[in-house]
Amino acid sequence: MDTDDSPSGHGAVLRKRLDDTTATVAVIGLGYVGLPLVRAVHDSGFRVIGYDTDTAKIDMLRRGETYIRHVGTELVSRLSASDRFEPTSSPDRLADADAILLCVPTPLGPHRDPDLGFVLESTRTIARSLRPGQLVVLESTTYPGTTRDVMQPILEESGLACGTEFFLAYSPEREDPGRDIDPATIPRIVGGVDEASTRLAAALYGHLVEKVVTVSSAEVAESSKLLENIYRAVNIALVNELKVLLTDMDIDVWEVIEAASTKPYGFQAFRPGPGLGGHCIPIDPFYLAWKAKAIGQSTRFIELAGEINARMPDYVVSRLIAALNDAGKPLRGSRVLVVGIAYKPNIDDIRESPAAQIIKLLQGGGAEVSYHDPHVPRFPPMREYRIDLTSQPLTAALLEASDCVVIVTDHDAIDWDLIGRHAGLIVDTRNAMAAVKDPTARIVKA
Ligand SMILES: NC(=O)c1ccc[n+]([C@@H]2O[C@H](COP(=O)([O-])OP(=O)(O)OC[C@H]3O[C@@H](n4cnc5c(N)ncnc54)[C@H](O)[C@@H]3O)[C@@H](O)[C@H]2O)c1
Repeated sequence: MDTDDSPSGHGAVLRKRLDDTTATVAVIGLGYVGLPLVRAVHDSGFRVIGYDTDTAKIDMLRRGETYIRHVGTELVSRLSASDRFEPTSSPDRLADADAILLCVPTPLGPHRDPDLGFVLESTRTIARSLRPGQLVVLESTTYPGTTRDVMQPILEESGLACGTEFFLAYSPEREDPGRDIDPATIPRIVGGVDEASTRLAAALYGHLVEKVVTVSSAEVAESSKLLENIYRAVNIALVNELKVLLTDMDIDVWEVIEAASTKPYGFQAFRPGPGLGGHCIPIDPFYLAWKAKAIGQSTRFIELAGEINARMPDYVVSRLIAALNDAGKPLRGSRVLVVGIAYKPNIDDIRESPAAQIIKLLQGGGAEVSYHDPHVPRFPPMREYRIDLTSQPLTAALLEASDCVVIVTDHDAIDWDLIGRHAGLIVDTRNAMAAVKDPTARIVKA
């Protein structure tokens, strides 16, 4: 049987193609993770097949148009003009690829259980045309064991043997949309289901990033991504809990955090906010919690953090109602302007954004809600909510006509001075008004 190390083995042939960048790499799932990855693979010199089942996205890529704001049109038109990039909705094209990288969604189901439907579907698609010498790498965030226990058996239905005929690894994506950082400087963790797979995947990623960190198994790589996200969820919950407590004691939590941050070691600052959002932090910890239950264990930190963070939109609205009450106004009939609906600054992604829950609570209490977000012109349909609103231009007239402005997301492009001068009452969940000099509005932190 061929082995990775034999000169004629499938691994050796693949290794050579990876080393001299003559390999073709397919990226499955061209979303927030997959599209920037296409750029990184392309710019490393490989030929790239970009495969997505969403034909609207493929059509846009062919026309050189972007559907993700922070991945600019300039980049997409450069890719579409390149003879080394092929966007496609045809699964047959995967047979041409030497390496296949999966970046499909891993959401939660209605009972907060992992929904591996997209991973299963795309793994079955790969298995149908799997050929000797292909490397498959999962990048989607998931629970430990997914690559080996879920994907490997499906791929082996092809009749090919893992580790000698095809290769399988996990490498977590560390994309942080909106952060101004060169992705090549972010170290990559790589863990294969066997040593040959680890070596081949590391050889591929070595072209994309400055530093590849190989670990002993796919399970270690899967768990490391979950640790990174659970660490954030738990620490954000901690400062959110302290925010509620310290606010009751008339102590400004943001000032406390800035003071503690002056310690040069042993402390990392996390900032409170209106609740968790995005595709990762509110969701990924529950992948591990589910896996823990499956082996009869509990994950109390994860559950507690989830509980505290999930309570934040209610807390914000209760602070807002109290602030209106101080001004002699009931929530019912009040005009509330929500500033920023994306789940974090400077991006257009509203997945799991707490803005939706805050708007629903306000509307449920009879408020007339409008919003302003320079990155999100229309409120898109969400998993749990349908909100039929469009972004209003931020003007002095709109601010003066609003009984309350609630700041949910502090995009750089927002004119905070204008808000400080023309709003009457501001509920600030991000400490965004701290940078404004002499605001005339009453500011309530929440
Ligand atoms: N967004 C982030 O910042 C981020 C960061 C790190 C990790 N991740 C993880 O990366 C994964 C992808 O996240 P995302 O934000 O890019 O998701 P996304 O929804 O933006 O993109 C996923 C893409 O996959 C496509 N798709 C779905 N099923 C498919 C199939 N069977 N075949 C081909 N294409 C298919 C969808 O059409 C979509 O374009 C998730 O596991 C997520 O947790 C995301």
